[in-house]
Amino acid sequence: MNDASKPAAPRPEIATPDVPMFDYRAQLQPLRAQMLAAIERVLDSGTLILGNEVEAFERAFAQAHGGGHAVGVNSGTDALVIAFHALGVQPGDEILTVANTAVPTISAIRMVGALPVFVDVDPRTALMDLGQVAAALTQRTKVAVPVHLYGNMVDVDQLRALLAGRGIAIVEDCAQAQGASLRGRPAGTFGDIAAFSFYPTKNLGAYGDGGACLTRDPALAERLRSHRMYGFAGAYYAERDGVNSRLDPIQAAILGVKLPHLPTWVERRRTLAALYDRSLPKHVQRVVAAADVAHGYHLYVVRVPERERVRDELRARGVTTGVHYPHAIHRMRAYAALPCAAQSLPHSEALAREVLSLPLWPELGEDAVRRVADAVAAVVR
Ligand SMILES: Cc1ncc(COP(=O)(O)O)c(C=O)c1O
Repeated sequence: MNDASKPAAPRPEIATPDVPMFDYRAQLQPLRAQMLAAIERVLDSGTLILGNEVEAFERAFAQAHGGGHAVGVNSGTDALVIAFHALGVQPGDEILTVANTAVPTISAIRMVGALPVFVDVDPRTALMDLGQVAAALTQRTKVAVPVHLYGNMVDVDQLRALLAGRGIAIVEDCAQAQGASLRGRPAGTFGDIAAFSFYPTKNLGAYGDGGACLTRDPALAERLRSHRMYGFAGAYYAERDGVNSRLDPIQAAILGVKLPHLPTWVERRRTLAALYDRSLPKHVQRVVAAADVAHGYHLYVVRVPERERVRDELRARGVTTGVHYPHAIHRMRAYAALPCAAQSLPHSEALAREVLSLPLWPELGEDAVRRVADAVAAVVR
C-alpha cells in the first residue's frame, strides 16, 4: 500500500480546517472555463512554439507596465540569464546583489560565469542596503540586481543615482514583485531590464514554469528575443550565442486569462496583509514595507527567534508556514570557492535564522488570517 492510498490519520487536536501556505485550486475554480478555452485555442491553432498567443501576452504584459517590450521566456531564472547576456556580461564580471534572495538569482549570475558580490540588507525591510553600495563597486562591476524581495521594492531611482557614470546596468529581479509599485510606478519599469517569474505560486503564476524580461529599449529587446532562441537573427542564422528558452504558448494563453485580475489580487493581498498587521501581537516583529512603496505582498514575513519551535507549534495548530530563505547565499556550499564566501553580512545571516512567512494569497479568508494571527500570538513568546 503506498502512502497515497492510506487513509489520512485523524488529527483530533485540530478543530477547524488547516491553513495551507498556498492553494492554487482556489484561483483555478472561478477561471476554469476561460482557461480551458484558452488551452483549447492553442491546441487548435497548430502553433505550439511562440506565435500569436505568446506575442499577445507579451503585448498585454508590457502594456500593464505602461509600455515597452516584454520577451517571454521559460522561467524567471532564464529571464535573468538572458538579461545578463543581452547586457554583455562576461565571465569574471561582478554582479552586485544581496545574499538573502532566492538561489536562482545567483544561479543565473553563475550561469554566465559572473561573480556575485553582496551588500548586506536593511534589517527592517530585508532589502538591499543602498548605503553599502558605493563601497562594494569595483572596476569589474557590470550589473546591479536589486531584488524586490517579498513584493517589497528597492528604491531603484536611488540605486541608479549611486551607479551614475560608471556604465553599470540595472536588472530588477521582479520575480516576487508583480503588482508592486514605487512612487506610483510599477516594479520592472526602473531598470534597464526587469526579470519576472511566472512560477505557479507567484502573484501572477502560470500552470508550470514561465518568465519574462521587460525593457523599454528596443535594441535590448531585440537582443533578448534573439538570445532566447539560439541567438537567431532571421531563419537558421545565429548572430550571437543563444539558448532555447521560450514562454510556452499554453502558459502564455493561461497567463493572458489571469493578467487582468492581477491588480484585484494584489489589492486583496494588501487587505489581508493589513489585517495581519492589525491582528498580530505587537511583540511579533514584522518585515516592513520600504518608504514610498505599495507592497505587492507576495509574502507576508515576520521575524521570530526560535523559528523552528514556532513552526512546529503552528503546524500542530493546523497552520502551515514557509521560510524565505533559511540560508544566506554566501554560506552555501555551492559558492564556497567564490570570493563572496568570505563576506560578512550580519543582517542577511540574522534574517536567514529568523524569517517566517505566514499564509497569504488572494482567496484566503479573513477568518483564516485571524486564526493564523491567534496561533502566532499563542506560540511566539
Ligand atoms: C527572487 C527570485 N528570483 C528569481 C526566481 C526564479 O524564478 P523561476 O523559479 O521562475 O526560475 C525566483 C523564483 O523562484 C525568485 O523568488
